Amino acid sequence: MPKDALTITDQRTNQTLEFPVELGTVRATELRKFKTSPDDFGLMTYDPAFMNTVDCKSSITFIDGDKGILRYRGYDIDDLAENCTFLQVAYLLLFGELPTPEQEKQWRFDITHHTMLPESTKHFMNGFRHDAHPMGVLVSTVAALSTVYPEAKHVHDPANRQLQTIRLIAKMPTIAAYSYRHRMGFPYIYPDNDLSYAENFMQMLWRMVEPKFAVSPVLARALDILFILHADHEQNCSSTTMRVVGSAEADPYLSVASAASALSGPLHGGANEEVLRMLDEIGSLANIPAYIDRVKKGEFKLMGFGHRVYKNYDPRARIIKEVADQVFEVTGHNQKIEIALELERIALKDDYFVSRKLYPNVDFYSGIIYEAMGFQPEMFTVLFAIPRTAGWLAQWRELMDDPERKIARPRQVYTGIVHRKVGRKTEVKHEARDVVGVKG
Ligand code: ACO
Repeated sequence: MPKDALTITDQRTNQTLEFPVELGTVRATELRKFKTSPDDFGLMTYDPAFMNTVDCKSSITFIDGDKGILRYRGYDIDDLAENCTFLQVAYLLLFGELPTPEQEKQWRFDITHHTMLPESTKHFMNGFRHDAHPMGVLVSTVAALSTVYPEAKHVHDPANRQLQTIRLIAKMPTIAAYSYRHRMGFPYIYPDNDLSYAENFMQMLWRMVEPKFAVSPVLARALDILFILHADHEQNCSSTTMRVVGSAEADPYLSVASAASALSGPLHGGANEEVLRMLDEIGSLANIPAYIDRVKKGEFKLMGFGHRVYKNYDPRARIIKEVADQVFEVTGHNQKIEIALELERIALKDDYFVSRKLYPNVDFYSGIIYEAMGFQPEMFTVLFAIPRTAGWLAQWRELMDDPERKIARPRQVYTGIVHRKVGRKTEVKHEARDVVGVKG
Protein backbone atom coordinates (compact mmCIF):
# COMPACT_ATOMS: atom_id res chain seq x y z
CA MET A 1 0.00 0.00 0.00
CA PRO A 2 1.69 3.29 -1.06
CA LYS A 3 2.16 5.75 1.76
CA ASP A 4 2.15 9.58 1.54
CA ALA A 5 5.65 9.76 2.95
CA LEU A 6 9.24 10.34 1.93
CA THR A 7 12.08 8.36 3.45
CA ILE A 8 15.55 9.87 3.29
CA THR A 9 18.86 8.45 4.46
CA ASP A 10 21.56 10.96 5.32
CA GLN A 11 24.72 9.21 4.18
CA ARG A 12 26.86 11.51 6.33
CA THR A 13 25.41 9.94 9.49
CA ASN A 14 23.41 6.93 8.26
CA GLN A 15 20.36 8.49 9.85
CA THR A 16 17.08 7.56 8.13
CA LEU A 17 13.97 9.67 8.65
CA GLU A 18 10.46 9.59 7.26
CA PHE A 19 8.58 12.76 6.35
CA PRO A 20 4.88 13.14 5.56
CA VAL A 21 4.08 14.26 2.00
CA GLU A 22 1.21 16.74 2.05
CA LEU A 23 -0.25 18.18 -1.18
CA GLY A 24 2.81 17.00 -3.09
CA THR A 25 5.22 18.78 -0.76
CA VAL A 26 7.45 18.06 2.21
CA ARG A 27 8.04 20.68 4.87
CA ALA A 28 11.50 22.13 4.25
CA THR A 29 11.97 22.80 8.00
CA GLU A 30 11.56 19.04 8.66
CA LEU A 31 14.91 18.49 6.95
CA ARG A 32 16.57 20.33 9.81
CA LYS A 33 16.18 17.09 11.77
CA PHE A 34 19.20 15.84 9.79
CA LYS A 35 22.21 16.97 11.81
CA THR A 36 25.83 15.90 11.78
CA SER A 37 26.31 16.88 15.45
CA PRO A 38 24.06 18.24 18.24
CA ASP A 39 25.16 21.83 17.54
CA ASP A 40 24.73 21.52 13.74
CA PHE A 41 21.97 23.90 12.55
CA GLY A 42 20.50 21.11 10.44
CA LEU A 43 20.03 20.42 6.73
CA MET A 44 18.50 23.15 4.57
CA THR A 45 17.32 23.31 0.95
CA TYR A 46 19.13 25.48 -1.62
CA ASP A 47 16.71 26.96 -4.14
CA PRO A 48 17.85 30.17 -5.84
CA ALA A 49 14.91 32.03 -7.46
CA PHE A 50 12.46 29.68 -5.66
CA MET A 51 12.39 27.35 -8.64
CA ASN A 52 10.94 24.50 -6.58
CA THR A 53 9.74 26.13 -3.40
CA VAL A 54 6.09 26.44 -2.39
CA ASP A 55 5.68 29.54 -0.24
CA CYS A 56 1.95 29.37 0.49
CA LYS A 57 -1.30 27.49 0.11
CA SER A 58 -3.53 29.57 -2.13
CA SER A 59 -7.06 29.17 -3.48
CA ILE A 60 -6.97 32.14 -5.87
CA THR A 61 -5.32 31.17 -9.17
CA PHE A 62 -4.51 27.80 -10.72
CA ILE A 63 -1.98 27.34 -13.52
CA ASP A 64 -1.03 24.14 -15.32
CA GLY A 65 1.93 25.35 -17.33
CA ASP A 66 2.33 22.13 -19.31
CA LYS A 67 -1.29 22.11 -20.45
CA GLY A 68 -1.58 25.90 -20.84
CA ILE A 69 -4.40 26.24 -18.29
CA LEU A 70 -5.07 29.39 -16.27
CA ARG A 71 -8.04 29.60 -13.88
CA TYR A 72 -9.16 32.19 -11.33
CA ARG A 73 -11.07 30.58 -8.44
CA GLY A 74 -11.81 27.59 -10.70
CA TYR A 75 -13.07 29.52 -13.74
CA ASP A 76 -11.12 29.20 -17.03
CA ILE A 77 -9.57 32.49 -18.11
CA ASP A 78 -11.31 32.40 -21.52
CA ASP A 79 -14.70 31.83 -19.81
CA LEU A 80 -14.13 34.92 -17.66
CA ALA A 81 -12.79 36.99 -20.57
CA GLU A 82 -15.85 36.14 -22.63
CA ASN A 83 -18.56 36.54 -20.02
CA CYS A 84 -17.42 38.94 -17.30
CA THR A 85 -16.26 42.49 -16.70
CA PHE A 86 -12.97 43.30 -15.03
CA LEU A 87 -14.71 44.55 -11.89
CA GLN A 88 -16.63 41.26 -11.58
CA VAL A 89 -13.35 39.37 -11.95
CA ALA A 90 -11.62 41.60 -9.40
CA TYR A 91 -14.46 40.80 -6.97
CA LEU A 92 -14.05 37.09 -7.73
CA LEU A 93 -10.32 37.20 -7.03
CA LEU A 94 -10.75 39.14 -3.80
CA PHE A 95 -13.80 37.42 -2.31
CA GLY A 96 -13.84 33.98 -3.94
CA GLU A 97 -17.17 34.20 -5.82
CA LEU A 98 -18.54 36.23 -8.71
CA PRO A 99 -20.79 38.94 -7.26
CA THR A 100 -24.57 38.60 -7.13
CA PRO A 101 -26.38 41.49 -8.89
CA GLU A 102 -26.82 43.21 -5.49
CA GLN A 103 -23.17 42.74 -4.54
CA GLU A 104 -22.06 43.95 -7.94
CA LYS A 105 -24.15 47.12 -7.65
CA GLN A 106 -22.55 47.92 -4.28
CA TRP A 107 -19.06 46.99 -5.54
CA ARG A 108 -19.37 49.22 -8.61
CA PHE A 109 -20.71 52.04 -6.42
CA ASP A 110 -17.82 51.68 -3.95
CA ILE A 111 -15.15 51.62 -6.65
CA THR A 112 -16.72 54.50 -8.59
CA HIS A 113 -16.87 56.66 -5.46
CA HIS A 114 -13.20 56.27 -4.55
CA THR A 115 -11.58 57.15 -7.88
CA MET A 116 -10.63 60.73 -6.94
CA LEU A 117 -7.11 61.48 -5.79
CA PRO A 118 -6.63 64.01 -2.99
CA GLU A 119 -5.68 67.40 -4.47
CA SER A 120 -2.43 67.36 -2.51
CA THR A 121 -1.49 64.09 -4.24
CA LYS A 122 -2.31 65.65 -7.60
CA HIS A 123 0.03 68.55 -6.75
CA PHE A 124 2.67 66.08 -5.57
CA MET A 125 2.53 64.42 -8.99
CA ASN A 126 3.24 67.79 -10.61
CA GLY A 127 6.68 67.66 -9.01
CA PHE A 128 7.97 64.88 -11.26
CA ARG A 129 10.23 65.77 -14.15
CA HIS A 130 8.34 66.60 -17.35
CA ASP A 131 9.50 63.36 -19.00
CA ALA A 132 9.26 61.07 -15.93
CA HIS A 133 8.60 57.43 -16.79
CA PRO A 134 4.94 56.76 -15.86
CA MET A 135 5.86 53.55 -14.04
CA GLY A 136 8.20 55.45 -11.68
CA VAL A 137 5.45 58.02 -11.15
CA LEU A 138 2.89 55.30 -10.43
CA VAL A 139 5.13 53.45 -7.95
CA SER A 140 6.03 56.64 -6.08
CA THR A 141 2.48 57.96 -5.98
CA VAL A 142 1.02 54.70 -4.70
CA ALA A 143 3.69 54.69 -1.97
CA ALA A 144 2.87 58.34 -1.19
CA LEU A 145 -0.79 57.41 -0.56
CA SER A 146 0.48 55.65 2.55
CA THR A 147 1.00 59.14 4.02
CA VAL A 148 -2.48 60.26 2.95
CA TYR A 149 -4.20 57.27 4.56
CA PRO A 150 -2.05 56.51 7.64
CA GLU A 151 -4.81 54.32 9.09
CA ALA A 152 -3.93 51.79 6.37
CA LYS A 153 -1.24 50.48 8.72
CA HIS A 154 -3.96 48.73 10.78
CA VAL A 155 -3.58 45.66 8.61
CA HIS A 156 -5.32 43.34 11.09
CA ASP A 157 -8.60 45.24 10.94
CA PRO A 158 -10.78 43.62 8.22
CA ALA A 159 -12.95 46.73 7.71
CA ASN A 160 -9.87 48.88 7.25
CA ARG A 161 -8.38 46.31 4.87
CA GLN A 162 -11.58 46.43 2.82
CA LEU A 163 -11.55 50.23 2.59
CA GLN A 164 -7.91 50.32 1.43
CA THR A 165 -8.63 47.53 -1.08
CA ILE A 166 -11.44 49.60 -2.62
CA ARG A 167 -9.33 52.75 -2.63
CA LEU A 168 -6.40 51.07 -4.34
CA ILE A 169 -8.47 49.42 -7.10
CA ALA A 170 -10.41 52.67 -7.62
CA LYS A 171 -7.41 55.03 -7.67
CA MET A 172 -4.98 53.02 -9.79
CA PRO A 173 -6.51 54.14 -13.14
CA THR A 174 -6.54 57.76 -11.92
CA ILE A 175 -2.87 57.63 -10.93
CA ALA A 176 -2.03 55.87 -14.21
CA ALA A 177 -3.91 58.46 -16.30
CA TYR A 178 -2.33 61.38 -14.42
CA SER A 179 1.13 59.90 -14.89
CA TYR A 180 0.45 59.88 -18.64
CA ARG A 181 -1.07 63.40 -18.74
CA HIS A 182 1.89 64.73 -16.78
CA ARG A 183 4.32 63.33 -19.31
CA MET A 184 2.29 64.85 -22.16
CA GLY A 185 2.03 68.21 -20.42
CA PHE A 186 -1.78 67.98 -20.46
CA PRO A 187 -4.03 69.06 -17.56
CA TYR A 188 -5.36 66.25 -15.37
CA ILE A 189 -8.93 65.11 -16.06
CA TYR A 190 -11.15 64.17 -13.12
CA PRO A 191 -12.97 60.81 -13.06
CA ASP A 192 -16.46 60.53 -14.57
CA ASN A 193 -18.80 58.45 -12.40
CA ASP A 194 -21.20 57.72 -15.29
CA LEU A 195 -18.64 55.52 -17.05
CA SER A 196 -17.43 51.96 -16.57
CA TYR A 197 -14.01 51.23 -15.09
CA ALA A 198 -12.26 50.99 -18.48
CA GLU A 199 -14.25 53.83 -20.08
CA ASN A 200 -13.49 56.18 -17.20
CA PHE A 201 -9.79 55.36 -17.49
CA MET A 202 -9.86 56.11 -21.21
CA GLN A 203 -11.58 59.47 -20.73
CA MET A 204 -9.06 60.46 -18.02
CA LEU A 205 -6.29 59.62 -20.49
CA TRP A 206 -7.56 61.20 -23.68
CA ARG A 207 -10.31 63.75 -23.04
CA MET A 208 -9.28 67.25 -24.11
CA VAL A 209 -11.85 70.10 -24.30
CA GLU A 210 -14.99 68.11 -25.12
CA PRO A 211 -17.54 68.04 -22.25
CA LYS A 212 -18.07 64.25 -22.65
CA PHE A 213 -15.47 61.94 -24.12
CA ALA A 214 -16.86 59.47 -26.69
CA VAL A 215 -15.29 56.13 -25.80
CA SER A 216 -15.33 53.42 -28.47
CA PRO A 217 -17.26 50.49 -26.91
CA VAL A 218 -15.07 48.01 -28.83
CA LEU A 219 -11.85 49.52 -27.45
CA ALA A 220 -13.29 49.82 -23.93
CA ARG A 221 -14.30 46.14 -23.98
CA ALA A 222 -10.88 45.17 -25.39
CA LEU A 223 -9.16 47.05 -22.57
CA ASP A 224 -11.49 45.43 -20.02
CA ILE A 225 -10.59 41.97 -21.40
CA LEU A 226 -6.88 42.82 -21.23
CA PHE A 227 -7.44 43.85 -17.60
CA ILE A 228 -9.09 40.46 -16.89
CA LEU A 229 -6.17 38.58 -18.48
CA HIS A 230 -3.63 40.48 -16.38
CA ALA A 231 -5.50 40.43 -13.06
CA ASP A 232 -3.59 37.62 -11.34
CA HIS A 233 -1.02 34.95 -12.05
CA GLU A 234 -0.39 33.17 -8.74
CA GLN A 235 3.11 33.40 -7.19
CA ASN A 236 4.91 35.45 -9.86
CA CYS A 237 7.72 37.86 -9.03
CA SER A 238 5.49 40.84 -8.13
CA SER A 239 2.90 38.82 -6.19
CA THR A 240 5.72 37.20 -4.24
CA THR A 241 7.05 40.70 -3.53
CA MET A 242 3.57 41.69 -2.32
CA ARG A 243 3.53 38.73 0.05
CA VAL A 244 7.11 39.29 1.26
CA VAL A 245 6.57 43.00 2.01
CA GLY A 246 3.06 42.31 3.35
CA SER A 247 4.47 39.64 5.68
CA ALA A 248 6.37 42.40 7.48
CA GLU A 249 2.93 44.03 8.05
CA ALA A 250 3.76 47.04 5.90
CA ASP A 251 0.60 48.87 4.85
CA PRO A 252 -1.08 47.88 1.54
CA TYR A 253 -0.01 51.08 -0.29
CA LEU A 254 3.66 50.39 0.42
CA SER A 255 3.22 46.69 -0.37
CA VAL A 256 1.50 47.46 -3.70
CA ALA A 257 4.23 50.01 -4.53
CA SER A 258 6.83 47.29 -3.91
CA ALA A 259 4.95 44.78 -6.04
CA ALA A 260 4.63 47.36 -8.83
CA SER A 261 8.40 47.98 -8.63
CA ALA A 262 9.00 44.29 -9.25
CA LEU A 263 6.52 44.40 -12.13
CA SER A 264 8.46 47.23 -13.80
CA GLY A 265 11.43 44.95 -14.57
CA PRO A 266 11.95 43.92 -18.22
CA LEU A 267 11.91 40.23 -17.26
CA HIS A 268 8.43 40.67 -15.76
CA GLY A 269 5.79 43.26 -16.70
CA GLY A 270 8.30 45.46 -18.50
CA ALA A 271 8.59 42.86 -21.27
CA ASN A 272 5.70 44.22 -23.38
CA GLU A 273 7.50 47.56 -23.73
CA GLU A 274 10.59 45.65 -24.85
CA VAL A 275 8.58 43.63 -27.38
CA LEU A 276 7.57 46.81 -29.20
CA ARG A 277 11.15 48.05 -29.27
CA MET A 278 12.20 44.66 -30.62
CA LEU A 279 9.57 44.74 -33.38
CA ASP A 280 10.70 48.27 -34.29
CA GLU A 281 14.31 47.10 -34.41
CA ILE A 282 13.43 44.14 -36.67
CA GLY A 283 11.55 46.57 -38.91
CA SER A 284 10.51 44.19 -41.72
CA LEU A 285 9.66 40.54 -42.39
CA ALA A 286 12.93 40.09 -44.31
CA ASN A 287 15.01 40.81 -41.19
CA ILE A 288 13.37 38.12 -39.01
CA PRO A 289 15.64 35.13 -39.81
CA ALA A 290 18.81 37.12 -39.07
CA TYR A 291 17.27 38.37 -35.82
CA ILE A 292 16.36 34.84 -34.75
CA ASP A 293 19.91 33.69 -35.50
CA ARG A 294 21.25 36.33 -33.13
CA VAL A 295 18.78 35.19 -30.41
CA LYS A 296 19.99 31.60 -30.88
CA LYS A 297 23.60 32.73 -30.56
CA GLY A 298 22.63 34.10 -27.13
CA GLU A 299 23.16 37.78 -28.04
CA PHE A 300 19.77 38.65 -26.55
CA LYS A 301 16.40 37.09 -25.75
CA LEU A 302 13.31 37.10 -27.90
CA MET A 303 11.16 39.37 -25.77
CA GLY A 304 7.62 38.15 -25.13
CA PHE A 305 8.76 34.54 -25.47
CA GLY A 306 9.29 31.99 -22.71
CA HIS A 307 7.84 31.70 -19.25
CA ARG A 308 8.94 30.20 -15.96
CA VAL A 309 5.65 28.31 -15.63
CA TYR A 310 4.13 27.93 -19.11
CA LYS A 311 5.90 25.30 -21.16
CA ASN A 312 3.03 25.46 -23.63
CA TYR A 313 1.15 28.30 -25.33
CA ASP A 314 0.25 30.96 -22.73
CA PRO A 315 -3.60 30.88 -22.80
CA ARG A 316 -3.67 34.65 -22.36
CA ALA A 317 -1.66 35.14 -25.56
CA ARG A 318 -4.28 33.14 -27.48
CA ILE A 319 -7.14 35.37 -26.24
CA ILE A 320 -5.12 38.53 -26.88
CA LYS A 321 -4.63 37.53 -30.52
CA GLU A 322 -8.43 37.45 -30.93
CA VAL A 323 -8.83 40.81 -29.19
CA ALA A 324 -6.22 42.24 -31.57
CA ASP A 325 -8.44 41.51 -34.57
CA GLN A 326 -11.38 43.40 -32.99
CA VAL A 327 -9.16 46.35 -32.07
CA PHE A 328 -7.64 46.63 -35.55
CA GLU A 329 -11.15 46.83 -37.05
CA VAL A 330 -11.55 50.12 -35.17
CA THR A 331 -8.02 51.51 -35.24
CA GLY A 332 -6.89 50.24 -38.62
CA HIS A 333 -4.17 47.69 -39.23
CA ASN A 334 -0.93 47.79 -37.24
CA GLN A 335 1.95 46.57 -39.40
CA LYS A 336 3.82 45.20 -36.39
CA ILE A 337 1.29 42.38 -36.08
CA GLU A 338 2.62 40.98 -39.38
CA ILE A 339 6.15 40.92 -37.98
CA ALA A 340 4.96 39.40 -34.70
CA LEU A 341 2.94 36.66 -36.43
CA GLU A 342 5.84 35.77 -38.70
CA LEU A 343 8.29 35.82 -35.79
CA GLU A 344 6.03 33.42 -33.90
CA ARG A 345 5.61 31.18 -36.97
CA ILE A 346 9.35 30.91 -37.57
CA ALA A 347 10.25 30.51 -33.88
CA LEU A 348 7.71 27.76 -33.28
CA LYS A 349 9.24 25.72 -36.11
CA ASP A 350 12.79 26.22 -34.86
CA ASP A 351 14.35 23.51 -32.72
CA TYR A 352 15.98 26.11 -30.40
CA PHE A 353 12.54 27.32 -29.26
CA VAL A 354 10.72 23.98 -29.58
CA SER A 355 13.26 22.04 -27.49
CA ARG A 356 13.21 24.71 -24.76
CA LYS A 357 9.40 24.91 -24.87
CA LEU A 358 9.50 28.65 -25.54
CA TYR A 359 6.10 29.98 -26.63
CA PRO A 360 4.68 33.50 -26.87
CA ASN A 361 3.65 34.81 -23.45
CA VAL A 362 1.02 37.41 -22.54
CA ASP A 363 3.35 40.27 -23.40
CA PHE A 364 4.04 39.25 -26.97
CA TYR A 365 0.81 40.63 -28.48
CA SER A 366 -0.48 42.98 -25.76
CA GLY A 367 1.96 45.78 -26.67
CA ILE A 368 0.83 45.78 -30.31
CA ILE A 369 -2.80 46.24 -29.21
CA TYR A 370 -1.89 48.96 -26.75
CA GLU A 371 0.04 50.82 -29.43
CA ALA A 372 -2.87 50.55 -31.88
CA MET A 373 -5.13 52.00 -29.18
CA GLY A 374 -2.83 55.00 -28.88
CA PHE A 375 -0.70 54.13 -25.83
CA GLN A 376 2.99 54.93 -25.80
CA PRO A 377 5.28 52.00 -24.88
CA GLU A 378 6.15 53.70 -21.57
CA MET A 379 2.51 53.20 -20.50
CA PHE A 380 2.40 49.46 -21.13
CA THR A 381 3.61 48.30 -17.72
CA VAL A 382 1.32 50.83 -16.08
CA LEU A 383 -1.57 49.21 -17.97
CA PHE A 384 -0.46 45.89 -16.48
CA ALA A 385 -0.24 47.29 -12.93
CA ILE A 386 -3.86 48.56 -12.90
CA PRO A 387 -5.58 45.16 -13.05
CA ARG A 388 -2.78 43.29 -11.28
CA THR A 389 -3.52 45.43 -8.22
CA ALA A 390 -6.64 43.26 -7.73
CA GLY A 391 -4.45 40.15 -7.80
CA TRP A 392 -1.83 41.62 -5.47
CA LEU A 393 -4.53 42.60 -2.98
CA ALA A 394 -6.20 39.17 -3.21
CA GLN A 395 -2.81 37.55 -2.48
CA TRP A 396 -2.19 39.99 0.39
CA ARG A 397 -5.60 39.42 1.97
CA GLU A 398 -5.14 35.66 1.74
CA LEU A 399 -1.74 36.01 3.39
CA MET A 400 -3.12 38.17 6.21
CA ASP A 401 -5.73 35.50 7.00
CA ASP A 402 -3.24 32.62 6.77
CA PRO A 403 -2.76 30.97 10.19
CA GLU A 404 0.77 30.00 9.09
CA ARG A 405 1.74 33.60 8.26
CA LYS A 406 5.18 34.66 9.46
CA ILE A 407 7.59 37.34 8.29
CA ALA A 408 9.31 36.09 5.09
CA ARG A 409 12.93 35.46 5.86
CA PRO A 410 14.92 32.99 3.73
CA ARG A 411 18.32 31.65 4.75
CA GLN A 412 21.66 31.87 3.02
CA VAL A 413 24.82 29.84 2.73
CA TYR A 414 27.60 32.17 3.75
CA THR A 415 30.61 31.71 1.44
CA GLY A 416 32.74 34.67 2.52
CA ILE A 417 35.75 34.92 4.83
CA VAL A 418 34.83 33.34 8.15
CA HIS A 419 36.60 35.72 10.48
CA ARG A 420 39.42 38.27 10.40
CA LYS A 421 40.69 41.25 12.32
CA VAL A 422 41.69 44.68 11.07
CA GLY A 423 45.48 44.97 10.63
CA ARG A 424 46.17 41.24 10.87
CA LYS A 425 46.98 38.80 8.11
CA THR A 426 43.75 37.39 6.60
CA GLU A 427 42.86 33.87 7.49
CA VAL A 428 40.49 32.41 4.92
CA LYS A 429 38.32 29.40 5.61
CA HIS A 430 35.76 27.88 3.30
CA GLU A 431 33.82 25.95 5.91
CA ALA A 432 30.43 27.53 5.22
CA ARG A 433 28.82 25.14 7.69
CA ASP A 434 30.62 26.95 10.52
CA VAL A 435 28.39 29.99 10.10
CA VAL A 436 25.18 29.08 8.27
CA GLY A 437 23.24 28.67 11.47
CA VAL A 438 23.51 32.36 12.42
CA LYS A 439 20.03 33.52 13.38
CA GLY A 440 18.46 36.91 12.69
N1 ACO B 1 14.57 34.03 -26.00
C1 ACO B 1 15.58 33.14 -26.21
N2 ACO B 1 15.94 32.19 -25.35
C2 ACO B 1 15.23 32.09 -24.20
C3 ACO B 1 14.16 32.94 -23.91
C4 ACO B 1 13.83 33.93 -24.86
N3 ACO B 1 12.81 34.78 -24.66
N4 ACO B 1 13.63 32.61 -22.71
C5 ACO B 1 14.37 31.59 -22.27
N5 ACO B 1 15.33 31.26 -23.18
C6 ACO B 1 16.29 30.15 -23.10
C7 ACO B 1 17.35 30.44 -22.03
O1 ACO B 1 18.45 31.13 -22.58
C8 ACO B 1 17.67 29.03 -21.59
O2 ACO B 1 18.48 28.44 -22.59
P1 ACO B 1 19.69 27.45 -22.18
O3 ACO B 1 19.03 26.27 -21.55
O4 ACO B 1 20.37 27.16 -23.47
O5 ACO B 1 20.53 28.23 -21.23
C9 ACO B 1 16.34 28.30 -21.64
O6 ACO B 1 15.58 28.99 -22.64
C10 ACO B 1 15.60 28.30 -20.32
O7 ACO B 1 15.40 29.66 -19.93
P2 ACO B 1 15.50 30.21 -18.46
O8 ACO B 1 16.12 31.58 -18.52
O9 ACO B 1 16.11 29.19 -17.58
O10 ACO B 1 13.95 30.33 -18.11
P3 ACO B 1 13.38 31.09 -16.87
O11 ACO B 1 12.18 30.35 -16.45
O12 ACO B 1 14.42 31.37 -15.84
O13 ACO B 1 12.99 32.52 -17.48
C11 ACO B 1 11.76 34.26 -18.48
C12 ACO B 1 11.69 32.89 -17.82
C13 ACO B 1 12.44 35.27 -17.54
C14 ACO B 1 10.32 34.76 -18.72
C15 ACO B 1 12.54 34.15 -19.82
O14 ACO B 1 11.89 33.22 -20.66
C16 ACO B 1 12.71 35.49 -20.51
O15 ACO B 1 13.61 36.24 -20.15
N6 ACO B 1 11.83 35.81 -21.50
C17 ACO B 1 11.89 37.10 -22.17
C18 ACO B 1 11.27 38.18 -21.28
C19 ACO B 1 9.76 38.08 -21.20
O16 ACO B 1 9.07 37.91 -22.21
N7 ACO B 1 9.24 38.21 -19.96
C20 ACO B 1 7.79 38.20 -19.72
C21 ACO B 1 7.40 37.02 -18.89
S1 ACO B 1 5.68 36.96 -18.70
C22 ACO B 1 5.37 38.05 -17.49
O17 ACO B 1 6.11 38.33 -16.60
C23 ACO B 1 4.10 38.72 -17.53
